[in-house]
Amino acid sequence: MKKWNGCSLLNHNTFGIEAKARLFVEYGSVEELQNFVRSDQSDSKMLHIGQGSNLLFTQDFDGIVFHCNMTGTILEREDENSAILKVGAGMPWDDFVAFCVDHGYYGLENLSQIPGEVGASAVQNIGAYGAEVKKFIESVEVVNLFTGELEIKHNVDCGYAYRYSNFKGPWRGKYAVTHVWFSLDKTFRPNTNYAAVRNIVEEMGADAVSASVIRQKIIDIRKEKLPDPNVLGNAGSFFMNPIVEKETFLELQKKYPDIPYYEVATGIKIPAGWLIEKCGWKGRHLGRAGIYEKQALVIVNLGGATGNEIVTLSHKVSQDVYEKFGISIKPEVNWI
Ligand code: EPU
Repeated sequence: MKKWNGCSLLNHNTFGIEAKARLFVEYGSVEELQNFVRSDQSDSKMLHIGQGSNLLFTQDFDGIVFHCNMTGTILEREDENSAILKVGAGMPWDDFVAFCVDHGYYGLENLSQIPGEVGASAVQNIGAYGAEVKKFIESVEVVNLFTGELEIKHNVDCGYAYRYSNFKGPWRGKYAVTHVWFSLDKTFRPNTNYAAVRNIVEEMGADAVSASVIRQKIIDIRKEKLPDPNVLGNAGSFFMNPIVEKETFLELQKKYPDIPYYEVATGIKIPAGWLIEKCGWKGRHLGRAGIYEKQALVIVNLGGATGNEIVTLSHKVSQDVYEKFGISIKPEVNWI
């Protein structure tokens, strides 16, 4: 176990925001974390982070920040059709996706190159290009940060929904995710829910398309649309795409016939990027925080922005969207 007092979090959040943690603790096994939690009498606030790719620090964190250093992947069991892999929460997400594509475990290729770690993928229910991780999670191993107890949360217990799990709701702050079990297919079937992926499969023919072709296509699309956090601080989509009732949508469609939308079980999902762009924010900035020029859903740190500058811009943008469309857009990023 490694510990740092007064640790800078600058390199632990992809927004590149300067903030400090009173204590930063990196653990290398479940037992190390359990022992720490059981012996710690400080009654401190606690926060478990991955790569900090979905976090916005608006102040120093006067408490303990945990990070998992377990990065192994174990094949737990398999049959003819599927394999169950147990993965350390600290494994970089895209290393895991690359491992799966290389070893013939399929399903995650559309989720290539999402920043972050495996543990956070189960908290956030990451999704992109027609796939969501909840479909592949079998269960999640967690340590209770108050008692040190080890628990297994099965997929159905986790309350998964769009960019949501109980770890973001009623369980917030209670658990550290230490391992995740994934159930993956041993036969490759391209996920063609997203138009750009569907086009490739149609152009190349289903037989010629492999998981690594899809992975490369997704990486190319991401490079084209999304800023590299090593160059321009950001946390991917800053807002969630709002879901509105059908009647509300039909009214909007009368006024804006080109409005993009997707039908989902709970209503009509509208891309927040489109709403923000229509408000004229794409490529604009307020102080050192800006709306990315190629994807209006992404807020970028133009250099040295504070968390509060990002918050001020996000308030202004969501206020403008509300005034123009009557729709509230909510952040996907977790504010600390
Ligand atoms: N659009 C605009 N202007 C913009 C951005 C988008 O008009 O500036 C419109 C376009 O019509 C476009 C549609 O919105 O066709 C959808 O855009 P895109 O395919 O880029 O997806 P998104 O809905 O903006 C979501 C995820 C992304 C994910 C992409 C691809 C959320 C909050 N975001 O964005 O996830 O990569 O789909 O599947 O659901 C992330 O979570 O960090 C993230 C980047």
